[in-house]
Amino acid sequence: MTSEPPAEVIAEQRELEAARARVEDLRAQIRHHDHRYYTLSQPEIGDTQYDLLFRELRDLEARFPDLVTPDSPTQRVSGEATVEFTGVQHREPMLSLNNVFNAEELTAWYARAVRRIERENLRFVCEPKIDGLAISLVYENGRFVQGATRGDGLRGEDITANLRTLRSIPLVLNAPPASLPRAFEVRGEVYMSKAEFARLNGERRIAGEQLYMNPRNTAAGSLRQLDPKITASRRLDLFVYQLGWVEGDRPVDSHSAAMSWLGGLGLPTNPLTQTFAGIDAVARFCEGWVEQRDALEYGIDGVVIKIDDYNAQRELGVVGREPRWAVAWKFPAEQAVTRLRQIEVSVGRTGVLTPFAALEPVFVGGANVSMATLHNLDHIHELDIRAGDDVIVQRAGDVIPQVVAPVLSRREGREADLVPFAMPSTCPVCGGEVRRNENEAAYYCTNRRCPAQLSRGVEHFASRGAMDIEGFGEKMAFQLVDTLRPDSTHHYIETLSDIYALPALRDELLTIPRIGEKKLDALFANIESSKQQPLSRLLVAITMRHVGTETARALARHFGTMTALREAALEDLQAVNDIGPIVAESVYDFMRDPENAALIDRLVIAGVRMDEDTTALGGPLEGLSIVVTGSLDRWSRNEVEELITRLGGKVSGAVSKKTSFVVAGEGGGSKREKAETLGVVLLDEAAFLERLRADGWADTPA
Ligand code: IVH
Repeated sequence: MTSEPPAEVIAEQRELEAARARVEDLRAQIRHHDHRYYTLSQPEIGDTQYDLLFRELRDLEARFPDLVTPDSPTQRVSGEATVEFTGVQHREPMLSLNNVFNAEELTAWYARAVRRIERENLRFVCEPKIDGLAISLVYENGRFVQGATRGDGLRGEDITANLRTLRSIPLVLNAPPASLPRAFEVRGEVYMSKAEFARLNGERRIAGEQLYMNPRNTAAGSLRQLDPKITASRRLDLFVYQLGWVEGDRPVDSHSAAMSWLGGLGLPTNPLTQTFAGIDAVARFCEGWVEQRDALEYGIDGVVIKIDDYNAQRELGVVGREPRWAVAWKFPAEQAVTRLRQIEVSVGRTGVLTPFAALEPVFVGGANVSMATLHNLDHIHELDIRAGDDVIVQRAGDVIPQVVAPVLSRREGREADLVPFAMPSTCPVCGGEVRRNENEAAYYCTNRRCPAQLSRGVEHFASRGAMDIEGFGEKMAFQLVDTLRPDSTHHYIETLSDIYALPALRDELLTIPRIGEKKLDALFANIESSKQQPLSRLLVAITMRHVGTETARALARHFGTMTALREAALEDLQAVNDIGPIVAESVYDFMRDPENAALIDRLVIAGVRMDEDTTALGGPLEGLSIVVTGSLDRWSRNEVEELITRLGGKVSGAVSKKTSFVVAGEGGGSKREKAETLGVVLLDEAAFLERLRADGWADTPA
């Protein structure tokens, strides 16, 4: 038997239903106005009206908490601050782009593409290259469910909570879920507008806080905040520029169609995008932008050119981390004039002193620049750059800013105050004696215990091309070199091998500020696995003067083990292909130095591997010295060099009579000429491939 619910209950239910209907109506209205305001910049109502809608929704949700859903506009800033971000594996790698700098290079790119897919009538989409950060957004059943940073392209960090605070990212798409793929990914660039950057820095100036460098870094920092409230206070923006993976069929067959589709769903696409049928028109469009870039509300560092048709994109594919179907036209470097306050000197891992410029901050190439490279002493003397000069500073993209020249006319009347630069006679970090080696331009700090040298050396030891210990960057290196252990007069790191003693000091290390348990354990795991790096990496890591990657590979291949290398006589070293007398002597001296010998002994005891993989020996290119020049279609430069090494060959940077052959791709002028003059065999990419295949190399699709 069921009886009628009492009248109050019925009334309550009716009220709830009415509230539910109103809440849904309000959310639809707010979403619509958010889109008009944040994405299209075409508001239909004023702030007061908008606030009324928003307040009504918030009040209703407060009265009926059951009606609150995560995708409600009131829930953009929700959740507590996290302790750290979790990792996200990208289903498909997030790629980067090859650069071109002028019409000629653009045309060469186009010609390569046309040749490869044998199609002429290609259409191009040109978009401003936003100077921000790449992100990935995942939508499921029409709802925003996950946002991630690019990271290394394969793995990023989950920053969903932070991205939710961007008003231009719709939490719910503007289409019935049934009409959408169940799940798909969109990629785009988050940026900070120039106005927002100025607003933030204005606040900081008033508060006496250090100013932010540039909009890009500030946007990056804002996205990596553990507390979404901070991200929300920064007012970041976004343009989407690519449809990523799609579950099931792709709803479109070209990039331009994808962009229209995404725009229709409420995602912000760049209105300055244009489509062209010919490459010459593309070049004109790019050239036109150089003048106009400053007028934009956000920073751009070039134009991205994409082949529109997805079939063509698929056929062209990817080489290394770069698609062949897209390219970035980068703008030339920007210059500005500012006062050179001081010429300061930094100390590198080999003790070399490098002068650099401390500048009156100036905005150039999209960033506030207060330091710039002066290259070397000769550069300073040749151009007569003096502290107190007004100088021309140049900056392009991610390149380190540089001092191009002094403005001599601005010296007038101050000549007497501006003295020519001289290297200091003692190390600016440790006070050690500074010396200049004969026949060399560089000045050195002679104190082997100089903390600057050591911390740079540690950083280098752990770097990618060396022992590759992730999580051991500049800050960690400096901190451990600089921090005294609690129970002794020693620092945590006083020599490179101390890195391997760190795991035993876990408890002590946890007492150091800003060193957390999780980070530390991850670091220890990376320290442990670094012990398996081959000899060639170790030789790079221990900083022998004049020994870079190529030389280290040659030494490791030739000698096979550290023991053999340590025992090698000077003549043995000189007999190695590609190694000249200066390098040979440097290696020989290094191995005979008692401190270095003790370091290697300690690394042996720590369990660091001391030999090279010799499986490559006897490969089809064994004994050959090969030079690669120009750009290849099938491989990136790094890939082809690794392939050659894996097959037993040696990669050399310069063409000489000893060169076995030169692999010449597109471009590559001077090395090609040198090979022709010396009569060295030139192979184009096809001939090189043929030769590899004839040698039994099993082709794997690039
Ligand atoms: S397309 C495979 N389009 O530039 C294509 N990238 O140098 C991948 N970027 O990581 C990128 N604006 O962060 C594309 N309109 C645009 C872009 C753009 C900025 C960034 C992006 C990418 C980097 C590559």
